[in-house]
Parts: sequence; C-alpha cells; structure tokens
Amino acid sequence: MNDYSVLVALHLLGASVWVGGHLVLSFAVLPRALRARDPAIVRDFEAGFERIGIPALLLQVVTGILLALRWAPDVASWFSPDSPQERLVLAKLATLGLTMLLALHARLRLIPNLGPGNLRFLAVHIALVTLLGLVFLVLGVAIRTGATL
Ligand code: HEM
Repeated sequence: MNDYSVLVALHLLGASVWVGGHLVLSFAVLPRALRARDPAIVRDFEAGFERIGIPALLLQVVTGILLALRWAPDVASWFSPDSPQERLVLAKLATLGLTMLLALHARLRLIPNLGPGNLRFLAVHIALVTLLGLVFLVLGVAIRTGATL
C-alpha cells in the first residue's frame, strides 16, 4: 500500500462510521424515540456514538484535505474553482460548514432543551445531518470517477 491508498482507506473508514452511524440513528434509533416520545433514547445513542463519530469526522477533515491537495494542489483554486475537481472540493467544504453549523446548533440549543415536545425538531435535524453525510459521499465518489458538478 502506498500513501495514497492509506489515505483513501482511512477516508473510507471515517465515511463508514459517520454515514453508517447516522443511518442507524435515522432509521432505527430515531423512529423508536418518536414512537415512545422519549428523547433519552436518542441521547443515549448520541453519548455512545460521539466517541467514535467525532473522531471519524475529524479524520475525514484531515484525510479529505490531504486528498484534495492531490487533486488540486493550489489551495487558492479551491475557492475560485475552474476544474470539476476544484468545484467538488469546494462543495465538500461547504457541506462541512453546514454540518458543523448543525452540530453546533444541536449541542448548544437543541440537546440541552430536549423534551418530548420538541423531538420533531431533533428528527429534522438528524435527517439533515444524515442527508449531508450522503452528499459528502456522492461528492467524494464524483471526484474520483470524474462526474461533473
Ligand atoms: C463526513 C465527511 C465525509 C465523507 C462521508 C466523505 C466521503 C467520501 C467518499 C465515500 C469518497 C470516495 C472515495 C473514493 O472514491 O476513492 C470521498 C472522496 C474524497 N473526499 Fe471525502 N468525505 C468526507 C469529507 C471530506 C472533506 C472534509 C474533504 C475535504 C475537502 C473531502 C475530500 C475528498 C476528496 C478529495 C476525495 C477524492 C479521493 C480520491 O478518490 O482520490 N472529503 N469522500
């Protein structure tokens, strides 16, 4: 394995944890919490998932930036893109920004005030973060396969 293979393997490991964890949360844990009107079900899952979910997202940022440098070595070009790869890198950075805004909003506003009455807001929130995870994945595959944006 060369450096590039190691980077892609680590990036795919982080992607499995982040996207897989959010799919389990959206399709298994959240429906159970909504049926029982019990936010503790989501809170318990989050407490366990955070321990590998946050390191996985950090791994994505580090390996993602190193991979992006291979496709578009000039960082300035990420922010004024004119190749498909540069546009896709910028789209991934925008997806990261949105994911971080949602995460901050959840930590500071939603989770501290969570109760049976506002579980629906949490559901929308979880659906959006899961959707953004899938957007990350599709954009990443597009970079390698040459799909354009
Ligand atoms: C949770 C966040 C992320 C997920 C789930 C994710 C997922 C993926 C997936 C599934 C691939 C396809 C790998 C392949 O075809 O080889 C990929 C590729 C890629 N991702 Fe990400 N990614 C994430 C974050 C990022 C970030 C923050 C960046 C930084 C800009 C980034 C940059 C890249 C690049 C440049 C590639 C192309 C790698 C290559 O094939 O050479 N990713 N990503």
